[in-house]
Parts: sequence; structure tokens; C-alpha cells
Amino acid sequence: MRVSDSRGVNWTTGEEASAARLFAAMDGYFTFRADTLDQLGKLLEDDPNVPAGWILRGYLLLFSRRTADLPAAREAHARACALDWSATPAEQLHVQALKAWLDADALGAQRIWDAILTDTPHDLLAMRVQHFTAMMLGRPDYLRTLAGRSLATWDDAVPGAGFVYGMACMGLEEAGEYARAEALGRRGAELEPDDLWSVHSVAHVMEAEGRMMEGLAWMERPSGFWEGRGPMRHHLLWHEALFLYEAGRYDHALDYYDRWLAPAEMPDYLSMSDCVSFLVRLEVAGVACCDRWGVLAESGREMIDGRVLTFKDVHTLLVLAMAGDREGLQRLSASLAGYAHDGQSFDAEAAGRVGVPLAAALRARLDGDPAGAADLLLATRFAFPHMGGSKAQRDVLDIYLINCAIASGNISLSRRLLHEYLDLRPNSVPMQERLSELVPA
Ligand SMILES: [Fe+2]
Repeated sequence: MRVSDSRGVNWTTGEEASAARLFAAMDGYFTFRADTLDQLGKLLEDDPNVPAGWILRGYLLLFSRRTADLPAAREAHARACALDWSATPAEQLHVQALKAWLDADALGAQRIWDAILTDTPHDLLAMRVQHFTAMMLGRPDYLRTLAGRSLATWDDAVPGAGFVYGMACMGLEEAGEYARAEALGRRGAELEPDDLWSVHSVAHVMEAEGRMMEGLAWMERPSGFWEGRGPMRHHLLWHEALFLYEAGRYDHALDYYDRWLAPAEMPDYLSMSDCVSFLVRLEVAGVACCDRWGVLAESGREMIDGRVLTFKDVHTLLVLAMAGDREGLQRLSASLAGYAHDGQSFDAEAAGRVGVPLAAALRARLDGDPAGAADLLLATRFAFPHMGGSKAQRDVLDIYLINCAIASGNISLSRRLLHEYLDLRPNSVPMQERLSELVPA
């Protein structure tokens, strides 16, 4: 049967009572609830004739970026396919997008979500999935396009507009349009107080503009705000820690890492990446992170096999190198080289452009050749965006390059790179310090 959500978008269910549960699961996804997959599982157990339930399940499993989840994602796709006869045209396109994503055709999936949103601009599921997968394309111009499109077709009166403003904020922030981005993100957080992404996108604006104290204040949320969230909560904590680091409060930052960021169990790829990139920053700032690297590398070694996302692999390379695990680094380097050579996908191309040269640079650094590492990174630095993620996340590679230059003793190169960095981020206390060490007052 056909059911309509609060935005007037049609969906299909087997039972009338399933509609509310499907929309609750979608809301759970939109607000990063940790129990969304469980909710979906119960719904699909009671009513398996819900195409969007299987579609969302497939999407969520692919978002984990774990090869172990691929069989279940394929099964979800197969279950959705079997319901194709009953599905709406938009749901049928979602099934095709899920298939494209399963086939590692990231750009093909984007085009299918484009098609859905051209005819059904208020399909928030399509918008959300498209936005988050586009975050990993390393194409700020594309993210910017999505923002412009959405703002033309949504206004405050459409339920869920706050989510859209939060995504538009992120798209504009990555394009450097900070003032407009912040206004939208703040409006998004007002309209949807439960939307972590609006909070997150405004945090990105403040980080990009070096407004550290404002950023710390912005992250203060009502008690209970963080409860029941999935990995995005950890990412928001990372942003909070980043404000401490950028302000030069390293003791607090390290303490914050130990209390809030250090994983107690096998982390998801996003939390792992956050931890790695945070510790790299602290090391470059002169804070010895000691056995924290060894602990993280244990999880990193679990991520060596199976290529699904170059962004994840970049951070795995970093943790293995920082922990001094030459054997693990070599294994992942070889795997990435084969993936880049044999693969046809957008991600395999990213592996060739960023993962492979980064792996070579990290090996050179481990072999005591920071100048060689700097050369390798200099040759590939303008390809860094291909790794995907946000500017703040990719920043770790620029910081690591600066560190290689400093370690090589090349003062003029170090000074040049620091000037370039500080021109973009003049309030960065850690990089101001690095520069002052090179140029005594
Ligand atoms: Fe972020």
C-alpha cells in the first residue's frame, strides 16, 4: 500500500501500521540514532514488504564501510529488488542506486539520486544519502551544487527543512562561503534541535575560521543531547577536541582524547580516522602520544584487508606508520597499489592518487628519509582532496607534510609551507608555534 510522509513523498509498505515505523527509522537515520538498524530489523521482521526498509538497511550497511557488511547489504538489495513490482518510481530508483553503490559505482549512484531529487525534491532519504556519500567524493564543487539545488526547493514550512539547511551549510562551508553557511547551519539547528549535522556543520565553519572559543561554546548542548547517538557523536567530540588543539591547549586536548576519544573497543572507521588524525596533530605539536599509537594500530591492523574506502585507508596507513608497524604498512601499501592498478572505481582512482603516494612517503619517513617523504607529498598534495572527507579531515595530510619538511631540516621549505597554511588558517596556534620556532623573534 502507498503511504505518504510528512513531506508528501510516497512510500510503500505491506501493512498500514508499518508507515510510522518506517518514518521513525528514517528519522533515526537522519538524527544519527545508534539503534536505527535494530529498529529497521524489527520492522522488516514484522512486515518484510517495505522496499524502503530494505533500501535503508542496505544504505546503512554500506555506510559502515566494512567489507564484512557487504553480504548483508547485498541481501538487503535482493530483498528490495523482489519488491520492485510494488514500489514507487522513486523507490525503484533507490534500489538502482543501492546496486550502483554495491558495485562501487559512486558516481553512478550519485546520478540516480540526482534523478530521484529532480522529480521528488523532498525525498529527504535521497538527499541525506547523496550528501553523505558526496562527502567522500572529495569534490567541494559537487557538494556546493547539492546545496544550491536544495535551497531552491525547500523552505521553513517543509517538515525536515532543518536537516536540509544543515547539509547546505556543510556544502557552503566546504566551498569557503562561511557567513552564509553559518546562517543556514544555525537555522537548521533551530528548526531541528536533534540534528547533529547542523551542529556539526556550524562547528566546521568555526574551525575553518579559527574561532576556537566560540566553537567550544557552540558544542555545549543540553544534557541528553548526545545520548543514543551512533558514531557521529564521536566525530562531534573530535571537533570539540580540535578546538582545544587549535587553541594550543595540548594538555587538555590529550586528556580529552583519553577521556572521550580513545576507543574502548574496535572502532568504526570514522572514529578510528578521528583518533588517528587527532594524535598526528598532537605529535606534530610536540606532544608524545606514546603507547596510544600501539593501541590504535591494533585496530588499524584489522582494517588492512579489504578495500572499500580510500579515506579509511589513508588513516590506516597513518596509524600503522606512526606505530612503527613496517610489516603492516607494507601489506597495506601493496594492497592499495593492486587496488589502484586493477580497480575501475572512483575510489580505486583515489587510492592511486592519494593512498599509494602517501604510503610511499610514510615508508620513506620510517626509513629515516623525511626529505624524501616531503618530496613525495609535495608531488601529490593538490590531489589530497581525492581522499574525500572534509577540509578539516584532509588537513591532517598538510600538517604531516609540514612536519616532514621540518624534520628534514629544510627551513626555507618549512617556512614556505607554514606561510601557506597560516594564510588559510591564521589563528592556528600549533602552526604559529612551528613558524616561530623557525623564525626566532
Ligand atoms: Fe566534521
